[in-house]
Amino acid sequence: MNHSFQIKNAQDYQVAYRKSIEAPELFWATVAATFSWRKPWARVLRWDFRKPEIAWFEGAQLNITENCLDRHLQAQGDKPALIWEPNNPSDSARTFSYRQLAEAVNECAWMLRNNGVQKGDRVCIYMGMVPELAIALLACARIGAIHSVIFGGFSAQSIADRVHDAQAAFLITADGSYRGNKEIPLKEIVDEALGSCPFVKHVFVYRRTGTVPNMQPGRDLFWDEEVAKVHAAGSLFFPAEVMDAEDPLFILYTSGSTGKPKGVVHTCAGYMVWTTYTFVNVFQIRPDDVHFCTADIGWITGHSYIVYGTLCAGATSLMFEGVPTWPDAGRFWDIIARHGASIFYTSPTAIRSLMAHGLSFLKGKDFSSLRVLGSVGEPINEEAWHWLDEQVGHKKCPIVDTWWQTETGGIMISNLAGVTPSRPGFATLPLPGVKPVLMNEKGQPILGNNLSGNLCLAAPWPGMIRSTWGDPQRCREAYFTAYPGYYFSGDGSLRNEKGFYRITGRVDDVLNVSGHRLGTAEIENAIGQCPGVVESAVVGFPHDLKGQGIYAFVISSSEQDASLYEAILNTVTDVIGAIARPDKIQFVRGLPKTRSGKIMRRILRKIAEGDMEHIGDITTLLEPAVVDEIKAGRA
Ligand code: PRX
Repeated sequence: MNHSFQIKNAQDYQVAYRKSIEAPELFWATVAATFSWRKPWARVLRWDFRKPEIAWFEGAQLNITENCLDRHLQAQGDKPALIWEPNNPSDSARTFSYRQLAEAVNECAWMLRNNGVQKGDRVCIYMGMVPELAIALLACARIGAIHSVIFGGFSAQSIADRVHDAQAAFLITADGSYRGNKEIPLKEIVDEALGSCPFVKHVFVYRRTGTVPNMQPGRDLFWDEEVAKVHAAGSLFFPAEVMDAEDPLFILYTSGSTGKPKGVVHTCAGYMVWTTYTFVNVFQIRPDDVHFCTADIGWITGHSYIVYGTLCAGATSLMFEGVPTWPDAGRFWDIIARHGASIFYTSPTAIRSLMAHGLSFLKGKDFSSLRVLGSVGEPINEEAWHWLDEQVGHKKCPIVDTWWQTETGGIMISNLAGVTPSRPGFATLPLPGVKPVLMNEKGQPILGNNLSGNLCLAAPWPGMIRSTWGDPQRCREAYFTAYPGYYFSGDGSLRNEKGFYRITGRVDDVLNVSGHRLGTAEIENAIGQCPGVVESAVVGFPHDLKGQGIYAFVISSSEQDASLYEAILNTVTDVIGAIARPDKIQFVRGLPKTRSGKIMRRILRKIAEGDMEHIGDITTLLEPAVVDEIKAGRA
């Protein structure tokens, strides 16, 4: 597929950027015109960040799956849309052509509709990385249901929280999933979660591992049996539901600095245009590309660059069920060679972990298909950047360092592969339509370069968050109140002399552990549920592999022994999932608090980092002596 909006050189980028800022409506109308619509828009953009209110392509009607699938069938129905590499390298890979993927999505759409799923219903999806996960997302979109994918590593309680918050009457899962040498009993975890969700009408169960799950009669249905009924009934084509541009497409829960994770809402038209536009331009897509994105579809990266953006652009998406280090640390390289991947989009944590395994796993591997490398999710340290460049890209593949968030829907700041310059550690320049602003402590925009501040966005872009599910006020408070009139990202950033942005990390109480976002409040709440814990404070600390590690300071009521340590880890695993387990726990007698009772995390952060010299003034604390005690007992 040819994309008329593809930027071809550095000058093109300058022109596109200028147009997008000077006349955004005209710019995005031109891009949007290349998609397939049921009805054109009446208005390109309406916005007011103070409310906030953001609407793109109002009045238009569409179905995103007609753009991901149907519109490609005539010209490239036999082209691979999805290639799936299973966990076990000796099992066969599966390839779906665009035609086959469309058929699978239509079947699944019928399965859902025949069992009562209607437009606007919420469907939670808790599966491993099997093709049916991508198919389930698309099937929901086809019938107008709002999907909410829950990452397969989350616990029963996390599932229950999300099912409740979304009031989802339907859930799609599998009997189990494979990750390396582990088998995860997904259905069992779902059963535990749904004990507190009596309003769930149906659970669809895809058979992956072949373990026999417990099936609740009337509620639980096997995917294959339901699809067989669809076939028996005859016609497979499911006429796509006609959606309004601003109808919700999906909810994806993500952590913030306060409270429970919030449901970020993305809508049909803007998200489609943004993910496709950014995909084509950042990776500089060519017709024969095989795009290997190693993220899980449980996170936004998988939504946007395994499923929606990739398929809308008519490219080939390669998805992988397993883990990078099983059966050995050469697995990614084998997958690249086996399927001829031309783009490899991964996380700094994955790169660092493979670096740590040594170069022997790269020896003799065939990297010749690679053209572009990409990084996402956390700041990439220069060492990892150079390793990727030299050992994987053989200095021939541009690396795109893509900064974005669940809330932004797609890539916001990044170089464009081979078109705009890269620089290790820098995400570099904003995509067309993106207006970054750095704010100083007084809440004023920083005008000069070589300065750091809090990263805000001054204008709307089509893929931006529209609301937080069930609680629009929370969206306003989290993103639009810190700097009135701006969207606040929660990240800090430096802008260098060339205007390149370097993202320095979160400036709020959100941690980024191996590229996974976790709120300190959320982890503290989980730790607090462990019997024997009186209070805790959680901060991040630099971690060689994970980027950030979790450091918990805990006041306990009982003996502080190994069993309490274990109990805390287990409680966190039960409440959130293993990804939130603290790396270090330090039992303390007290926490540094101000006279009004506020925990001074700044002090704890310094101690966790081991930076005892810069703890700063502690004389205003309620009990300054605890600081010395905590310093002395550092874990
Ligand atoms: O801190 C930034 C970091 O990841 C956060 C967003 O996390 P999430 O919503 O889970 O989405 C991750 C995948 C898009 C950001 O606030 N982050 C993401 N990309 C980068 C990054 N930090 C530095 N450089 C990046 N390229």
